[in-house]
Amino acid sequence: MTVATEATLFDKLTSLAKRRGFVFPSSEIYGGAGATWDFGPIGVELKNNVKRAWWRTMVQERDDMVGLDAAILMHPRVWEASGHVENFTDPLVECASCKHRFRADELPEGATGACPNCGERRLGEPRRFNLMFKTFVGPVEDEASIAWLRPETAQGIYVNFENVVQATRRRLPFGIAQIGKAFRNEITPSNFIFRSREFEQMEMQYFCRPADAPRHYDEWMETRRQWFHDLAGHDDLFRLREHAADERAHYAARAFDIEYRYPFGWKELEGIHNRTDYDLRRHAEYSGRKLEYFDDVTNERFVPYVVETSVGADRATFAFLCAAYDEEPDREGVRVVLRLHRDLAPYKVAVLPLSKRPELSQLARSVWARLRPHFMSTYDETQAIGRRYRRQDEIGTPLCVTIDFDSLNDRAVTIRDRDDMTQVRVAIEELVPALRERVGRA
Ligand code: GAP
Repeated sequence: MTVATEATLFDKLTSLAKRRGFVFPSSEIYGGAGATWDFGPIGVELKNNVKRAWWRTMVQERDDMVGLDAAILMHPRVWEASGHVENFTDPLVECASCKHRFRADELPEGATGACPNCGERRLGEPRRFNLMFKTFVGPVEDEASIAWLRPETAQGIYVNFENVVQATRRRLPFGIAQIGKAFRNEITPSNFIFRSREFEQMEMQYFCRPADAPRHYDEWMETRRQWFHDLAGHDDLFRLREHAADERAHYAARAFDIEYRYPFGWKELEGIHNRTDYDLRRHAEYSGRKLEYFDDVTNERFVPYVVETSVGADRATFAFLCAAYDEEPDREGVRVVLRLHRDLAPYKVAVLPLSKRPELSQLARSVWARLRPHFMSTYDETQAIGRRYRRQDEIGTPLCVTIDFDSLNDRAVTIRDRDDMTQVRVAIEELVPALRERVGRA
């Protein structure tokens, strides 16, 4: 097995993503739309599976978690209370010669050095640039109608803390999980879907007693590390890195990143933060509501602490793609295989008649109809069977079902495995349980 070298992996993956329908540049026929991306027919299945796997682990399988889907547009005071209006900024520098803009903290020679684009030494003074997208609610565009596109989903959880406690009668500790779009007007969006201006977050806020926060923090780091281990393997490609004090976000008392070794280096994949009681206290102050928890057993009233886990669905999808990409030599040159976990694979099964002969197509289509209610599946009858296997390997389909001329008589088909390419013959009547056994839940 030869894994593509890091330098080429990025090019190979981005080209595969476009060619096979994982990810397209947004508004491409107009020349693109500034670091936004569209997930194509295969990509939407993969990303949905990533989100489903997260929800299953974080909500469905736990007894201390509920879900939420809050609105993107929120009251503008939310972002004053959260500190984003004041603090959610990057240092922006503009070159007076070529007009290119950079993040000052990313300039190789610093803000007084040469412009990385034109080489002139005419970089201006850094100024704070707020990353939130501004819009207006209603027909009048004035100060009173300003709204922000949320730069993180977390605030939707804090402002609903009281609602959730009242509606669900939850006792501490418990968490609220949410998946949704977030927007950041990044100065230097880069590296494909790694850093874009519109993306999705999968965030969880765990409310607990202040004294218990350090213990829960350690538990959550392990839970999240394990999630990536279970779905991607390759422990050498993941690591935990603690933030230094001057690197931590304004709300965090402790912060670790789960980093992934992307083809362009170790980068943040997920943030795990001890946000203390910062957010609930700020929202209490700005809204005038008492966001406290009353423990009716101990008769204590206090503001809970929050442990947050926050991962980008797009960044996670990209990491799973990188970790799954594999190449191995075969008779025709190279077999490209996406060794995606079966829970993540866009299609679980592909149905392939050996030839386009009408009697085979008819039987194969009836087999496909039988499978569709059970598995996300696809059908392909063009080109030689070897080429079709390769096409499915390349998008990570774990199982192919081949219908051949014997199938017309013995009512049996062949299941071919993506990873070891073994083949077994199974009666059509037994096909659904046989696939289920191999692919797990679908
Ligand atoms: N609520 C905490 C929070 O938003 P963050 O570290 O700013 O923390 C959390 O973001 C995660 O969101 C990151 O680890 C990353 O996976 C994802 N993310 C942040 N900015 C992103 C961007 N511009 N494009 C894609 N994903 C991004």
